[in-house]
Amino acid sequence: MIALEPLLRQHAERFGAPQSAFQAPGRVNLIGEHTDYTGGLVMPAAIDFNTVAVMTPAKNSASVLYASNLQKEFHFDVNGLPEKPKHDWTDYPIGVLWSLRQSGVTVPQFTMTLEGDVPLGAGLSSSASIEVAVAFAALSLAGKSMPLTEIALACKRAENGFVGAQSGIMDQYIACCGVKDHALVIDTRDLTSQPEPLPANVRLVICNSMVKHSHAGGEYNARRAEVDEGTRAVRSINPAIRELRDATLADLEKAHASMSENAYRRCRHIITENARVKEAAAALSSGNMKRMGQLMAEAHASYRDDFAASCPEVDLLVELAAAQPGIIGARLTGGGFGGCTVNLVEAACAEAFRKGIHDAYLERAGIDADIYLCQAAAGASELAFAR
Ligand code: GLA
Repeated sequence: MIALEPLLRQHAERFGAPQSAFQAPGRVNLIGEHTDYTGGLVMPAAIDFNTVAVMTPAKNSASVLYASNLQKEFHFDVNGLPEKPKHDWTDYPIGVLWSLRQSGVTVPQFTMTLEGDVPLGAGLSSSASIEVAVAFAALSLAGKSMPLTEIALACKRAENGFVGAQSGIMDQYIACCGVKDHALVIDTRDLTSQPEPLPANVRLVICNSMVKHSHAGGEYNARRAEVDEGTRAVRSINPAIRELRDATLADLEKAHASMSENAYRRCRHIITENARVKEAAAALSSGNMKRMGQLMAEAHASYRDDFAASCPEVDLLVELAAAQPGIIGARLTGGGFGGCTVNLVEAACAEAFRKGIHDAYLERAGIDADIYLCQAAAGASELAFAR
C-alpha cells in the first residue's frame, strides 16, 4: 500500500494544499481468462497494491499531472485534451478525462500527483488502478457521482477508445467493486457480481516471472480478433448465439470447418473456461479447495495450449509451484504473454512457499523473481486525511 502522508507532503510542496485523495487497487484473477469480452464469467480479487491520486483544483487555466514514481510532469488543458495517445503513462489519466467527457462530465482544471505500487507490466492491472483512481478524483472535482459499474465502463472506454487495448471490463470492475477477503465472480454480460470468501487459512501468493507484457496492441488484440472470428462462425450456424458465452462445445464443433484452427482453439478455451469459473465459484463457496486447485490447473493448461498465451518462464513457475509446500493451485493470471502466476497457498506455508519457489526459479531460469504475499482488498475509495 502507498503511504499517504509522504505523498500528501510531496503534493503540497509541488502544487499547494491537497483537496482530496483517492486510491484504487490492482487485481489478481483467480480464474476466467479472456472471457470478459465474450459476455462470460471471471473471478478476480482486488489486491493490496494500489494507485493513489492526490489532487487540488488549479487556480489558473492549465492542469498538471505528476507521476511520482517516474518523476515526470505533464501539462495540459482539460478543455483541449490531447486527441491521440502518446503511448506513455499519460494515456491512462488523459483517456479517463476523455471518456468522462463523453459521459457528460466536465472537470475543472486541476493538479494531481499519482503514485502506485502495482508492479508495472506484470499482469496485475496497474493501468486499471490508475484509471479508476483518476476517475474517482475527477468525478469528485466535477462534483458528480456515478454508479460503480458506470465508472468501470467509463474507464474501460478509456482503455478501448483512447489507449488502444481492446480489453474487457474485468480489471476496471474489480478495481471499483473489490471486496476485502473475497474474490468476486463477475458476470460480464449483466455486470452483476457475487463475492466468494477466500478461506482465512489460504494466502494469495503472486509470482512475477519478470517477463514483461503489454496490452496496447500486440498479442492481446490479436487473440481477441481470433475470438471474434470464431464467434462470427458459430453465430452464422446458430443465430441465437449473441456472444460466445451462449455457445456450447457442440455449437463450436458444428462451426469448426468454417473458422481457422486458431479461432477454434481460442474459442474452445473460452467456452471451457466459462464452465470452469462456474465450478470454481461452487468449489470456493463450499470450501472445496482441492477442486479449486484442480480447476486452476485445468485453466492453466487451456490458457497455455488452446489460447497460446503463456510463455516458458510462466509454465516453469506453475510447474515449480506444484512441488512447493502448501500449494493448492497455480496458474498464469491476467492478459498473458508473461506477467505473474497466482497461487493459492496454505497460510502456514506461505513463507516457505515464497522462498522455495524463488530459489527453484532462480536455479532453473536464472531469474530473480519478485514474489508477493497478498491479501484480497476492497475496491477504490476516498482516503481520509487531516486538512
Ligand atoms: C487483461 C484485460 C482484461 C481481461 C484479461 C484476460 O487484463 O484488461 O479485460 O481480458 O486481460 O482475462
